[in-house]
Amino acid sequence: MKTEHAPTIRRADYRPLSWTVETVELHFSLDPEATVVTNRMLCVRNPDADEGPIRLWGEDLERLSLTVDGQAPQALRESGALIEIDADGDRAMVEVRTRIDPKANTTLSGLYLSNGGFFTQCEAEGFRRITCFPDRPDVMARFTVTLEAERASCPVLLSNGNLIEQGELPDGRHYARWEDPFPKPSYLFALVAADLVALERTVRTMSGREVLLQVWVEAGNLDRCGHAMDSLVHSMRWDEETFGLELDLDRFMIVAVADFNMGAMENKGLNIFNTKFVLAKPDTATDVDYENVESVVAHEYFHNWTGNRVTCRDWFQLTLKEGLTVFRDQQFSADMLARAAGPEGAASARAVKRIDDVRVLRAAQFPEDAGPMAHPIRPDSYQEINNFYTATVYEKGAEVIRMLHTLLGQEGFRNGMDLYFSYHDGQAVTCDDFVEVMSEANNGFDLDQFMRWYSQAGTPRVKASGEWSAADGSYTLTLAQSTPATPGQPDKLPLVIPVAVALIGPDGRDCPLRLEGEAQAGAATRVLQLTEAEQRFRFVGLAAAPVPSLLRGFSAPVVLELDEDDARLAFRMAHDADPCNRWDAAQRYAERVVLAMAADAAAPVPDAFVAAFRALLGDGALDPAFRAQALALPGEAYLLERMAPADPLALRAALVRLTRTLGERLAADWLALLDAMQVPGEYRYHPADAGRRALANLALRYLAAAGHAEGLARAQARFEAATNMTERFGALAALVQSTDPAREAALEAFHARYRDDALVLDKWFALQAGAWRWDDAAAPTLDRVRALLSDPAFSLSNPNKVYALLGTYFRANPGEFHAADGSGHAFWAEQVIALNAKNPQVAARMARALESWRRFTPALQASIRVQLERVLASEGLSPDVAEVVGKALG
Ligand code: PHE
Ligand code: ZN
Repeated sequence: MKTEHAPTIRRADYRPLSWTVETVELHFSLDPEATVVTNRMLCVRNPDADEGPIRLWGEDLERLSLTVDGQAPQALRESGALIEIDADGDRAMVEVRTRIDPKANTTLSGLYLSNGGFFTQCEAEGFRRITCFPDRPDVMARFTVTLEAERASCPVLLSNGNLIEQGELPDGRHYARWEDPFPKPSYLFALVAADLVALERTVRTMSGREVLLQVWVEAGNLDRCGHAMDSLVHSMRWDEETFGLELDLDRFMIVAVADFNMGAMENKGLNIFNTKFVLAKPDTATDVDYENVESVVAHEYFHNWTGNRVTCRDWFQLTLKEGLTVFRDQQFSADMLARAAGPEGAASARAVKRIDDVRVLRAAQFPEDAGPMAHPIRPDSYQEINNFYTATVYEKGAEVIRMLHTLLGQEGFRNGMDLYFSYHDGQAVTCDDFVEVMSEANNGFDLDQFMRWYSQAGTPRVKASGEWSAADGSYTLTLAQSTPATPGQPDKLPLVIPVAVALIGPDGRDCPLRLEGEAQAGAATRVLQLTEAEQRFRFVGLAAAPVPSLLRGFSAPVVLELDEDDARLAFRMAHDADPCNRWDAAQRYAERVVLAMAADAAAPVPDAFVAAFRALLGDGALDPAFRAQALALPGEAYLLERMAPADPLALRAALVRLTRTLGERLAADWLALLDAMQVPGEYRYHPADAGRRALANLALRYLAAAGHAEGLARAQARFEAATNMTERFGALAALVQSTDPAREAALEAFHARYRDDALVLDKWFALQAGAWRWDDAAAPTLDRVRALLSDPAFSLSNPNKVYALLGTYFRANPGEFHAADGSGHAFWAEQVIALNAKNPQVAARMARALESWRRFTPALQASIRVQLERVLASEGLSPDVAEVVGKALG
């Protein structure tokens, strides 16, 4: 593989293909080392394109034969993965036979083996690793698939759509034929041939059709499928009720596989999932795992309409399906939580979900948008599309859809969605098409300027300042926006930014809002539209100087800059009626304290901060889940992003000191909270219980960090007595983040109990890789990580293991990873090089851990540069890693 020259693909170069495909008949003779694929595709000339050859792509294939209408092609040209064939007329039957070696396929893209079974992953460009095909999302064809395999090892044969035939073959083999009635792009093709069992349920859709739902897993996991099945049924109901969208197939399957690069994949009617997002039972999965299973099942299910029925014209449009589908799964989860919480708790439950989403955005997307890989939610270019399944395309993309929802309102948004499907069902379209129908469905609502969210990278800054006039009872709010330069985009234009605003009175209550010129006051929260570089808004009729609460509900994916002193942050921490902003006030205050402590190792923890923290901790009127969010310190990745230069070691020292201080000084409060947060009865996954468990686990974590004797004893007791994974894992996590000798014994006991459970062992690896040093005498975490590489349960070939051990160390433990001696960086290079040879996608993800290196202190930069250069110079570098490292150094 030649790497320095991985070509750049540009959005502007999109051209429709001269030939597309109407129908495909695939035949697989499955064999671990020599699978033969016969592909008969009816190619048709595209009336909307220029004249040209049939274009197919093929990669890592042994081509056995290729014919056009039964003959050798008149002319065939090959360059790299591209094959061009000249053909006459308007229709041509192209037949290609290829041989592939699934066993040797360690990339987990295309057809591969996992635990003796055959699985496929085709998004984005895996289908070309199975057969030669016009492997682009704008080619939508009807597929018929015949699978043939050994019955003993592969009793189950699945593909997309409906099963139309099956039977026996000689030599212990059998076959099954599947037909998908819906035209689809090749990236949605899938097959599974393995020894699995299914949990089944039949349900009726809104139109009264009976459909079969299946969750396929290995036999020993049948008792862990119930939650995924429930989640699927809830997702179906929600999409019917919320968007009027019904399941369009008679059968819908979810298959769990242990070796998978990503979370899950929405193949038509045959979703393939990482086991991590299917399997859950109380003894092995935490509340967070339950939540994740629910949202990933929903996400993939929702893709059936947003992604599959209407798909992307080209991969630059990825956010068309991903941003929209993430927004849909976020809304679904919020609705599910609100429903479970009941009318009283619904608002807080929704806010807690929103806070979770904002945390992810700030921790993952903001740094990405400020680094060398920064790109708009619709990128203009890429070298390797697999590198663009990013927090920006997904999470910021979802924020952009959320802003549309805010601007158009619930009903206007729904009307836009209805029009989207009425125009574009069965098509491969662009983000422009989507925004256009949203406008058309809303009386031509002007979204021209809004489109800049699709083309500009970087996190916008909104600077706010207010001026109170006692003389006339007015408050003038000035909002100014700017977006920092990003690679290739030095200058930015103003965006449309919805800013939800409230003004809090001295009594802590929201004031009714009246803008100058309005006859009467309206609601307490109002969405202002910031469209210019700077705008002023004058509120009148106020009795006293208010405290502004801006960007409520995190109404736009921006950084809000507002001068607030400690007293004002404490005031909002205590009174802001918007839970997101109340949480944010706590985060801002904590950020200020911890960054001051990082800048000055002698800086004390301010008493006022401890008091504000204690007030939240003890406020029994607040939902425990909310308190757990508000009392968790801001994430390290986010804090590093706020530090210039970023100094992970000073930051870690400050976090250790602050966590300990909060544990020591509030010990009595934490202990009381532990008692108050008991959850009686049998485990159930319910947000109210989950909130209490989360808060109790947080209390243990502070107490253990502080080395508090009773707190440690409680953690140990809870670890031993726990009846579910949330409590057991929470207690273990607290012990691991301490210097207590019970730590090692607990890790061992946990390992002994779950030694044969791959998913639970991932937690065990991650806890150790994420461990901080609470004691100067402790050995570096790297020693442990290195030792665990040779643990029999670890494998560099299994992405979940890599993410748990290496991913946690590189991405979630900056205070250890960036050790001053450079040992972490050298280890990073070694592992990225090893992974590159096996699985470039996973290697590239790990490689990204150092992309923000230029923000670090000079000494760290020097250490990192050497390792980046070492990786770039290594033999056989994949385009995936080359793009990441090349851009980091560039
Ligand atoms: N399309 C998948 C999702 O977001 C993600 C994915 C991408 C999975 C590429 C595998 C490969 O639901
Ligand atoms: Zn998706």
